[in-house]
Amino acid sequence: MPPADTATLPRTHACTYLHLLVVLLPCCGLHAALPQLAEEARLLLQIKSVWGDPPVLASWNVSATAAHCRWPYVRCNKAGHVSGLFLANTKISGPFPGSTIASLSGLRHIDVFNNTIADVFPTLLYRCRSLQYLNLSYNLFNGELPANIGHGLAASLTTLDLSGTIPASLSRLQNLKFLALDNNLFVGCIPAKLGELTSLQAMYLGDNSFDAGELPPSFGKLANLSTLDAQNCNLVGSIPPGIWTLETTRINSIQKQAHRQQLYKNNFSGEIPTSIGWLPSLQLLIVGTNRLNGTLPSELGKHTSALKYVAVYDNELTGVIPEGLCDRSRLQYFIASGNQLNGSIPAGLANCATLKVLVLDSNQLSGQIPQAIIWTVLTIFTASNNLFSGEIPASLVSSMPLVQKLNLSGNQLSGWIA
Ligand SMILES: *[C@@H]1O[C@H](CO)[C@@H](O)[C@H](O)[C@H]1NC(C)=O
Ligand SMILES: *[C@@H]1O[C@H](CO)[C@@H](O)[C@H](O)[C@H]1NC(C)=O
Ligand SMILES: *[C@@H]1O[C@H](CO)[C@@H](O)[C@H](O)[C@H]1NC(C)=O
Ligand SMILES: *[C@@H]1O[C@H](CO)[C@@H](O)[C@H](O)[C@H]1NC(C)=O
Ligand SMILES: *[C@@H]1O[C@H](CO)[C@@H](O)[C@H](O)[C@H]1NC(C)=O
Ligand SMILES: *[C@@H]1O[C@H](CO)[C@@H](O)[C@H](O)[C@H]1NC(C)=O
Ligand SMILES: *[C@@H]1O[C@H](CO)[C@@H](O)[C@H](O)[C@H]1NC(C)=O
Ligand SMILES: *[C@@H]1O[C@H](CO)[C@@H](O)[C@H](O)[C@H]1NC(C)=O
Repeated sequence: MPPADTATLPRTHACTYLHLLVVLLPCCGLHAALPQLAEEARLLLQIKSVWGDPPVLASWNVSATAAHCRWPYVRCNKAGHVSGLFLANTKISGPFPGSTIASLSGLRHIDVFNNTIADVFPTLLYRCRSLQYLNLSYNLFNGELPANIGHGLAASLTTLDLSGTIPASLSRLQNLKFLALDNNLFVGCIPAKLGELTSLQAMYLGDNSFDAGELPPSFGKLANLSTLDAQNCNLVGSIPPGIWTLETTRINSIQKQAHRQQLYKNNFSGEIPTSIGWLPSLQLLIVGTNRLNGTLPSELGKHTSALKYVAVYDNELTGVIPEGLCDRSRLQYFIASGNQLNGSIPAGLANCATLKVLVLDSNQLSGQIPQAIIWTVLTIFTASNNLFSGEIPASLVSSMPLVQKLNLSGNQLSGWIA
């Protein structure tokens, strides 16, 4: 996206929460010499001073200098070099003392999660060649990420969570397994080059205001990806076939866009491919509030050992509820309101003893409410605005001892709920 467009975005959150960033990079020299150790204590005191001598760091003081490896929030390696700063949730504020921190040459672990550090991304950390873990999340980092971040940070980065536009150079971080960019103010496009991060196991892109666009087809190459969260991302078009055929345990939340002023949705269209019914490890299928059409794959649940959560609400789905959803006795949530599903509640669902939530409102489901219901842990059953008819089974409520919400209005049912 050209800068002119970027500038039209609301920048009231210029200080945005930066999620966390975890890095694997080798840091600095290994050989300890006493003068150097004193120097490291001095560096720690300098960091403390940049943060305005916060009470939480009172024990970092000159009288305790000799023992800086035992100062709270500090960890040293065997050679006596500072190897970790564990400063999450310490109410530290101020700028990020990048040059001082980068001078701690043995650093492998930097965690400043959830403070009020306000700065731009500290490129001085490029000097930390042994850094393994960098967590800057939940601070007030702002501005765009440097385009060269993927070249600058050590290639051993394993986890990253940042704000700004997503630089395509991230694709150089070939060891990245966990990439969390959700809940930020990312704009522009989702770089197709992220599809080159073949080690990725989890990718969270949700709740950003990307330009309307498609999920890059290159993501279909992420063979080890087990979690993809792309909810509220302004995505349109069809879901790339590769995404559906991944050996995914979770295709998480490819769903609605809820941005500040407006309520958007992802407008994914097209059909849910039948092949998804054959994914052995699918646990969650969450694709609510899109424009998916066609039918729910008839094999869904039959070959998937752990299918737990199916949320397909507010789409344009037709056809019947697959009878095998609960075949492996794991299904807990089936949320399918706001479609045009027809047929009756299948016996497999009526006998699904693991079911906690069943939401079927506003479809064209018909037939009777099943007699032989075994919903011992069910808390919510709503099926309003359908075409159900006949008598409500007298045993209904006793079949659902934990039920908290039951709504069968807008049907053609008769009888009593006792
Ligand atoms: C210096 O740190 C020690 C613990 O390391 C603490 O007991 C002492 O109160 C600190 N001194 C000051 C002046 O804060
Ligand atoms: C952040 O730290 C504050 C205390 O400073 C705490 O109340 C809050 O729960 C923390 N937030 C997160 C997300 O951990
Ligand atoms: C960042 O740090 C927080 C608190 O230490 C932790 O809860 C979170 O999981 C960390 N992020 C990553 C990706 O490890
Ligand atoms: C994918 O996962 C397998 C099994 O854990 C592993 O052997 C392989 O190296 C991974 N591939 C990549 C590109 O990380
Ligand atoms: C999605 O569709 C809605 C309703 O037609 C429309 O208002 C919105 O602009 C569309 N969003 C995108 C990203 O195409
Ligand atoms: C689903 O919608 C697409 C357009 O988005 C259309 O081409 C296709 O025919 C529809 N399929 C069904 C089964 O209605
Ligand atoms: C469900 O609707 C489809 C059309 O979408 C129709 O072909 C089918 O016969 C209907 N099935 C039932 C059981 O009503
Ligand atoms: C039951 O469902 C109908 C139709 O969806 C809705 O209008 C009504 O408010 C619901 N009743 C309760 C108690 O939630």
